[in-house]
Amino acid sequence: MPLVTTKEMFEKAMKEHYAIGAFNVNNMEIVQGIMDAAAEQNSPVILQASSSAIQYARIGYLMKMVEAAVEENPQIPVAIHLDHGPDFETCKMCIDHGFTSVMIDGSKYDFEENVRLTKQVVDYAHSHGVVVEAELGKLAGIEDEVNVSANDAMYTDPEQAKEFVERTGCDSLAIAIGTSHGAYKFKGEAKLRFDILAKVKELIPNTPIVLHGASTVIPELVNMCNQYGGNIPGAKGVPDEMLHEASLSGVSKINVDTDLRLAMTAEIRKVFAEDPSVFDPRKYLTPARQKIKETVAHKMKDVFGSNNKI
Ligand code: G3H
Ligand code: 13P
Ligand code: ZN
Repeated sequence: MPLVTTKEMFEKAMKEHYAIGAFNVNNMEIVQGIMDAAAEQNSPVILQASSSAIQYARIGYLMKMVEAAVEENPQIPVAIHLDHGPDFETCKMCIDHGFTSVMIDGSKYDFEENVRLTKQVVDYAHSHGVVVEAELGKLAGIEDEVNVSANDAMYTDPEQAKEFVERTGCDSLAIAIGTSHGAYKFKGEAKLRFDILAKVKELIPNTPIVLHGASTVIPELVNMCNQYGGNIPGAKGVPDEMLHEASLSGVSKINVDTDLRLAMTAEIRKVFAEDPSVFDPRKYLTPARQKIKETVAHKMKDVFGSNNKI
């Protein structure tokens, strides 16, 4: 199977009430770990790269890795998606290089500018057979280039979401219901606004909904990092049960980056702490890749319900 857009993936997911995992990729081991999990679980999968990931990995290498992943796993539907496209030019570059889906993140702008920019990307993408994810509402939290002050945190307004989708023609919509990027999502109890999600689904039932900032910040991985010399105290994410509820309640795409970073770092720290004489990268990247596979497989099977959905 060649690379696919997310259109058919989301249609099936909405009909059968599960979510597709969208996992951030930066290098070969991450791509392989995710794909090994998708193959084991017979799950469709979205590989996504942010603009800083593209800068890091370089777009030519990235596309060749994705191509290899598809060739090695022809039975798995795979989409390659731009995560948090900051402007039209970046979206265009990705479309021109063969991405099957792009996100234009206009959430930092006011409503009218977000509509204008999103529509501009939709027009170009659709004329090239590519689908577009847009975002309305602001996620709290600060992470690299995805930077919105916590004071600006703003839930998505369902009525505005309807108007936004109608005016832009975007294919899927990321909404803000209480998640945030990174390892520090909640000070106290985790809380998501499922009431807003329900209202959005009522008003735009056919638009796939996307949840960003949806890592669990898996406590065992945080503990493992800290046990082997890390310093990530008090990290907290979205519990599996909430993500499971979201995937049953009309969320079609769940974004995960932080959990992959933690998985990789935890294993590498463990190898170094246990044997400081190691300097062959394969000695620490092999268990790191395996941990990514296990982390992704758990999400597909036990949380998102995308296993055996190819
Ligand atoms: O949502 C943001 C992703 O975690 C990507 O982060 O810009 O550091 O690659 P990044
Ligand atoms: P996390 O930081 O929760 O993994 O979110 C990733 C994300 O939303 C990528 O767009
Ligand atoms: Zn995000």
